[in-house]
Amino acid sequence: GSDILTLAIETSCDETSAAVVRNGREVLSNVISSQIDLHKKFGGVVPEVASRKHVENVNLVIQESLDVAGIKLKEIDQIGVTYGPGLVGALLVGVSAAKALAYALKVPLIGVNHIEGHICANYIEDKTLTPPFLCLIVSGGHSHLVHVKDYGIYEVLGKTRDDAVGEAFDKVARAMGLGYPGGPLIDGLAQKGDPEAIKFPRVYLEADSFDFSFSGIKSAVLNYLNGERQKGNKISLENVAAGFQQAVTEVLVHKTIEGAKQKKTDTIVLAGGVAANSGLRKLLTEEGKKQGLRVKYPSLTLCTDNAAMIGCAAYYDSLGGHRADLYLNAVPNLKL
Ligand code: KG4
Ligand code: ZN
Repeated sequence: GSDILTLAIETSCDETSAAVVRNGREVLSNVISSQIDLHKKFGGVVPEVASRKHVENVNLVIQESLDVAGIKLKEIDQIGVTYGPGLVGALLVGVSAAKALAYALKVPLIGVNHIEGHICANYIEDKTLTPPFLCLIVSGGHSHLVHVKDYGIYEVLGKTRDDAVGEAFDKVARAMGLGYPGGPLIDGLAQKGDPEAIKFPRVYLEADSFDFSFSGIKSAVLNYLNGERQKGNKISLENVAAGFQQAVTEVLVHKTIEGAKQKKTDTIVLAGGVAANSGLRKLLTEEGKKQGLRVKYPSLTLCTDNAAMIGCAAYYDSLGGHRADLYLNAVPNLKL
């Protein structure tokens, strides 16, 4: 058959991104315009500000993705777009742009679940990866343990009951007086600290549960910081970061390995922004090796939000017969 060129658009949070992907796994361009600097002074993403910035940027980013790929708009075979989960105003910008393009070009429109996009980043990273495998998706908005049975066929084993992992990282970082986003900053500090110096709780929930809870660990860190400040003690931010990161990663790694055993799969893949975490990558790889499991994770750009992963997901969705129409709407709380 002939090549399928997907133009993909991602605007679910604070990255405006567009990509051209050939046949699902070959990325011809992946342009990411980050708004992080814009949101830094507020200490987090301001939804209204994000939407406005997406409106300013979306056409420029789309045009650049075509230029970088050396592809003309009329060569595009289908449009893929994130329609949830995410910030409603932010999602609507991408969805509207995608609908306009699909209508003008008379090509199929495919609505993509952002979480599915994160999983698919691994298909781009490793061209030989095929389901089934177990995927731990950890980002600023989601923490899911998913058995990927086949392309587009997911069994959610567990998810967070409160904060997402990245959210916990960001909130702890804020309490430590670090900037936004906090995840990479904590990661950097943790590498210089002693993970055993301060023992924060590991929350495993019920023995047979694959759900997560991170608000307890987060509160424990905040209480520790407040307590030490009240006592006038000098706080080692390196040790706090290392202790927090260790507590979180031990729980994630334990549940992920148990999930792989239960589902009898020999492959574990990481996805989402927190998959960039060096401690998580290291511990999961080490523990996986002990159990004879392969552990894979995407390169840093493919971990955090980007449109290439959406283009990949759109390709497999369209092979599975999924099509959206021009009534496609943003679904802020879309489930996997
Ligand atoms: O996937 P993503 O770009 O956006 C969402 O879909 O949420 O993830 C962003 C999250 C933020 O919470 C950020 O702090 C976290 O990923 N993050 C990290 C690291 N890099 C990004 N968390 C821990 N360690 C990192 N190295
Ligand atoms: Zn994301």
